[in-house]
Amino acid sequence: MFEQLEMAPPDPILGLTEAFKNDPRPHKINLGVGVYKDAAGRTPVLESVKAAEKRLLQEESTKSYLPISGAPEFGAKVRELLFGADHEIVKNNRAATAHTPGGTGALRVAGDFIKRMFPAKALWMSTPTWENHANVFRAAGVETKACPYYDAQRKCLDFDAMLNGLESAPEGDAVLLHACCHNPSGVDPNPAQWEAIAALVQRRALMPVVDFAYQGFGDGLEEDARGLRTLCATGAEMLICSSFSKNFGLYNERCGALTVVGATRDAADRAFSHIKACIRANYSNPPSHGGAIVSTVLGDPDLRAQWEGEVAAMRDRINGMRRLFVATLQARGVRTDFSFITRQKGMFSFSGLNRDQVAALRDEYAIYIVGSGRINVAGMTEENMDTLCAAIAAVLGKTA
Ligand SMILES: Cc1ncc(COP(=O)(O)O)c(C=O)c1O
Repeated sequence: MFEQLEMAPPDPILGLTEAFKNDPRPHKINLGVGVYKDAAGRTPVLESVKAAEKRLLQEESTKSYLPISGAPEFGAKVRELLFGADHEIVKNNRAATAHTPGGTGALRVAGDFIKRMFPAKALWMSTPTWENHANVFRAAGVETKACPYYDAQRKCLDFDAMLNGLESAPEGDAVLLHACCHNPSGVDPNPAQWEAIAALVQRRALMPVVDFAYQGFGDGLEEDARGLRTLCATGAEMLICSSFSKNFGLYNERCGALTVVGATRDAADRAFSHIKACIRANYSNPPSHGGAIVSTVLGDPDLRAQWEGEVAAMRDRINGMRRLFVATLQARGVRTDFSFITRQKGMFSFSGLNRDQVAALRDEYAIYIVGSGRINVAGMTEENMDTLCAAIAAVLGKTA
């Protein structure tokens, strides 16, 4: 049976990592996959996470199943991060949280929930968006629609086009919004634009699905939640998909969360009962370890302070690399204006490099960038910066 099957196409980003691993050139640089790297090019285990794991190893008394939605204390800590401890949503119990296997797991359960309970709803996604979004929602059977977002000419948000696009969404449709650090563009709405998005969502009764994979990587843990909280202030019902892969460095523990916000506690409870039904039919209940780490760190004032410092250090390093990249290109005499890179947020930027330039960087200089020109700024280090910028200068010189 299986010999007749066509091979499935390789995942474009993970395929790039394979090619990078197999490249024998010693000076190779990987700006492809979305993983944080420190100044030495490593993806370290955070110290706060290590300390929490030591505690867990001593204190853990069972490997019995978690509830379908995970440990209640995990959900409470996630909601505190999202809304703030004193938020009206928290006080009125208008939100419920399920611990999911990564942010991807949260998105998939959100898709299953939409398909099961609102089968006529389509989901509107920004152009461009994270490569896996369309995959995940299509696999759940949800129809996806494209909405303008990025202005490639001006290297900024095409806000009018975005609003016009959302305006054309039928009432009640779902809209996928990146809470911060838009992947792949690094371009986020400003506070006034979030207000306008929130007003439109309310007027058209859209259902936001907020993807929050980079809390703390933009301007700060609280600052990065402002857009989400602006949406919440309208009383909108929504789904929020958190990932702790990046801000806790828990990539392979698969730790994320799906939070549903209802207009009332009763509405949230009703929606959550169906979310649990979707989970039961999928992976049944979540893996424990990553969630236990997050609860332990967030529940202990010292560990939490240490973690906040570690998130700030990751954010500051990325922003430092953005500035150094632009300065080094300038010093190399590159005339193209790359200053927009310093205005973008999070791990990613659209470099503006085209497919031919990306291919030349890979073939001639062992520099790996996603075909769209998306670069992972966290893959840059002080050590590789000069090699990287010299190669970009050479490729731009040739193809200009
Ligand atoms: C925008 C966005 N959403 C969700 C995810 C999924 O995160 P996770 O690895 O926790 O599944 C990613 C990961 O790169 C992402 O960039």
